[in-house]
Amino acid sequence: MPENHLDSTQRDATEGTTHDVVILGGGSGGYACALRAADLGLSVALVEQGELGGTCLHRGCIPTKALLHAAEVADNARDGERFGVRSSLESIDMAGVHAYKDGVVGRLYKGLQGLVAAKGITYVTGRGRLAGAHTIEVTTTDGTQVVRGRHVVLATGSYARTLPGLEIGGRIMTSDQALRLESVPDRVVVLGGGVIGVEFASVLRSFGAEVTVVEALPRLVAAEDEAMSKHLERAFRKRKITVRTGARFASASQTDDAVTVTLEDGSTLEADLLLVAVGRGPVTDDLGYEEAGITLERGHVVVDELCRTAVDGVHAVGDIVAGLQLAHRGFAQGILVAEDIAGLSPTPIVESGIPRVTYCDPEIASVGLTEAQAREVHGDVETIEYNLGGNGKSQILQTQGVVKLVRATGGPVVGVHMIGARMGEQVGEAQLIVGWEAWPEDVAALIHAHPTQNEALGEAHMALAGKPLHAHG
Ligand code: NAI
Repeated sequence: MPENHLDSTQRDATEGTTHDVVILGGGSGGYACALRAADLGLSVALVEQGELGGTCLHRGCIPTKALLHAAEVADNARDGERFGVRSSLESIDMAGVHAYKDGVVGRLYKGLQGLVAAKGITYVTGRGRLAGAHTIEVTTTDGTQVVRGRHVVLATGSYARTLPGLEIGGRIMTSDQALRLESVPDRVVVLGGGVIGVEFASVLRSFGAEVTVVEALPRLVAAEDEAMSKHLERAFRKRKITVRTGARFASASQTDDAVTVTLEDGSTLEADLLLVAVGRGPVTDDLGYEEAGITLERGHVVVDELCRTAVDGVHAVGDIVAGLQLAHRGFAQGILVAEDIAGLSPTPIVESGIPRVTYCDPEIASVGLTEAQAREVHGDVETIEYNLGGNGKSQILQTQGVVKLVRATGGPVVGVHMIGARMGEQVGEAQLIVGWEAWPEDVAALIHAHPTQNEALGEAHMALAGKPLHAHG
């Protein structure tokens, strides 16, 4: 429990006061808003029913990326011979993997609790509900408590969706349960080839499971540029991950020994575990939002470009706002709202400028428009795919992939799409290029260090500017 959990004396003091800001939900969006608002001198209350840090810290980004790192270590042990290093993978000790993962989460959690306490934020543990534009009613272990604010920020996040008739339990799980597997299953069916699906498929394959990904759409990671899907599917095939695209789920049944998945074409798949990764839905039900006059659209809170709802003084951030469900978008929106409340006139967030990284092996990193989106927006576009085969560091790592650039013809780079081991680390420069509307010629003139994977980004721009170096064809 956070050190600054309210005791009964503080509670009496809080009951009578109106904070500048009351935030409902202590995940990425909520706590970022709390920290920034406190820095700006505002009095802040933060209401959280679970653990400070929310999905990202406890059930999402951090623990899954720890699993993916353990998966990389397993692959390195298994593949040492490729580099002339005699090593082999003995087994995966899931208890040990969890101890490592939980250690990472635990240290970050402690640090975050310390930050919230140090900034004098009033932390209230309990289930909150919007009870009017300026009021959150919190059900705590010892009764109901009313927390008031001049401004209220809704930041209640998202939950793992399932499909009608597909009940989570036993051998059928979402990422919430899959994060705590006690042993590595022999056979896994992953339902959904989106971000969570491909990340878990990657981990479980590296840990030794036979994995089949079932995706209704014609390709994996369908929100990415088509070239990324093509390269990922090829890489997954090489890793012996079975990919069934254009395959719709019909039903699933389980016994003590196995789960059987039936697809709409009548085919069946048998496995030890079915991981359901068909998207995350906003947590906006039964929280008093609609009663308070907040507009919801397909469950999402409708906001303007400054994250203000239609109700004066009520703001919303993070996964409850339609758009990219990413922790760093939540941080940015939280900060934006705090600055708006403090009267700093912040600049609205450009959604297409938000970088995206999918941490499967190989990693996918992208920012800006896909080729198809750019054609819709700009009409005429030019693209280039720079193959990592020409990049020294990528060859040293023995990874394959590409950097694909999309530019508006005769104009700036509007999309950068990358796939290959560790390519997520390159997204920072890609983001500056797209965000600052750089032309290929601008980037081509910048010298990139050799031998780095970053060089691939530089060389892709050189090629697009008409002066390729290590590029064939
Ligand atoms: P998603 O929307 O990325 O993918 C869900 C997939 O399931 C889609 O491709 C969809 O076509 C498929 N699907 C839905 N119904 C189906 C059916 N009946 N049969 C077969 N396939 C079906 O959602 P996902 O992967 O659950 O992730 C949720 C959110 O969490 C995403 O918005 C993602 O961006 C975010 N996230 C981000 C991460 C990152 O930034 N690295 C990591 C994990 C999640």
